[in-house]
Amino acid sequence: MNQEELFKKLIAHSKEYGYIFPSSEIYDGLSAVYDYGQYGSELKNNIKRYWWEAMVRLNENIVGIDAAIFMHPRTWEASGHVGAFNDPLIDNKDSKKRYRADVLLEEYIAKLEDKVEKEVEKGRKKFAEGFDEAQFRATNPNVLRNAEKVNEVRARMVDALTKNDLEAVRQLILDCEIVCPISGTRNWTEVRQFNLMFETKMGSVSEDAGTIYLRPETAQGIFVNFLNVQKTGRMKIPFGIAQIGKAFRNEIVARQFIFRMREFEQMEMQFFIRPGEEMKWYEHWKATRMKWHKALGLGDSNYRYHNHDKLAHYANAACDIEFNFPFGFKELEGIHSRTDFDLGNHQKFSGRKLQYFDPETNENYVPYVVETSVGLDRLVLSVLSNSYCEEKVQKDGEEAGERVVLRIPAAIAPVKLAVMPLVKKDGLPEKAREILSSLKYDFNCQYDEKDSIGKRYRRQDAIGTPFCVTVDHQSLEDNTVTIRHRDSMEQERVSIASLRGIMEEKVSMRTLLEQL
Ligand code: GAP
Repeated sequence: MNQEELFKKLIAHSKEYGYIFPSSEIYDGLSAVYDYGQYGSELKNNIKRYWWEAMVRLNENIVGIDAAIFMHPRTWEASGHVGAFNDPLIDNKDSKKRYRADVLLEEYIAKLEDKVEKEVEKGRKKFAEGFDEAQFRATNPNVLRNAEKVNEVRARMVDALTKNDLEAVRQLILDCEIVCPISGTRNWTEVRQFNLMFETKMGSVSEDAGTIYLRPETAQGIFVNFLNVQKTGRMKIPFGIAQIGKAFRNEIVARQFIFRMREFEQMEMQFFIRPGEEMKWYEHWKATRMKWHKALGLGDSNYRYHNHDKLAHYANAACDIEFNFPFGFKELEGIHSRTDFDLGNHQKFSGRKLQYFDPETNENYVPYVVETSVGLDRLVLSVLSNSYCEEKVQKDGEEAGERVVLRIPAAIAPVKLAVMPLVKKDGLPEKAREILSSLKYDFNCQYDEKDSIGKRYRRQDAIGTPFCVTVDHQSLEDNTVTIRHRDSMEQERVSIASLRGIMEEKVSMRTLLEQL
């Protein structure tokens, strides 16, 4: 199965098994908006908890808040979003399809980089043991030509985007002979800027109403509360404020399922520091956040850093943590050194002092900020796409059908344990419910008595339940049950009294948090 097929199957599976539905589907859905179903919302809540506890509970100097989505409209002037939160758009006149001009160029660069890597792999195979990669990269004509082109295109793109020179962006697309993937032509319009913020009106009388925005990032709710939290929490620099919440962007190229949505959720943390210490903290948070991702156990090689070529209007250093999604490595989280841009501008626009008196240096200053910003929906997608697996099942050395299993890390799996009576009689359901009642306060458990035991196992595999417990006639005699492991399908006989301990060891969030 190639990655495209895998992605399609994952989308269908997510819908079929109650993870993710298209929004308002009975009206044919709403583009790039999705609803989380009964298992999707459990998964999301578990990921949120993992993040919140790693940030707020494990760090004495980080606290969490929950700010409103609506904010005073001046907020967005101060933050630069009214003036600069734009995407450069270009249309193909033949297909009438609209694209982000920078994305077209980045995809072109990625193709060239891919060619370089393929050439290196060819060399590695050809020269086997005697392969000197550094020398090959420095001398192979194909590698050199493509690498030079990458540098040239990237430099021109960064220059044009930084200067907001839209004609130069268009010229670069023409010079690179980039074609529309639908029409295959180079019949492009001018490049235009498009602001991504959603607007609405506040107040019941529309003539009087002021325009307000749905927040495009949660970060500003933190900045405007900087002094409130610092004073009421008696926080000393360096300290952080964390927040989880919805953000809204009128994305133009809204494809790829929950990767790019118009309504999505962010988990952001702004870390307030002394000016001049930003690079130290930037490196610290880069490493800390990577560790958090890797502790999930989706495979270390599925993550990498990507430094930004073009910095956002607020940043002096920025990188992404990228994940290997079914459509390639893409941004999962951003780490940004935001300087004093936000607090400085809010100070200017509001006329209120947003400064900190540092008792160690006896100075007043506007703190600098290092931000970590991860998309919750992208995390859900990374977990689901990495977990989805189709495999042949063996029984007694023979092939016995197929199963679809979501190998979701146990600590964040929506349902931790399914309790099943082998048959619906002889007191087995009562015994199973007894077990369920004793465990349900600590773990999300499910009771299932319908269909054959094999079918019930498949159902639990498909939603990613790490453990199933089967109650049989022997259980009534000796208080033991069979516990079946999702990934290995192995079964073992254990005492009912030991279940809590087994579960605690295998599924508790603590196992993740202790790795940090
Ligand atoms: N406060 C900084 C900020 O918002 P960003 O890189 O624009 O930075 C941060 O966004 C994260 O939010 C991204 O790394 C991504 O995970 C998530 N994100 C951004 N736009 C998104 C969208 N349209 N749909 C889903 N997630 C999105």
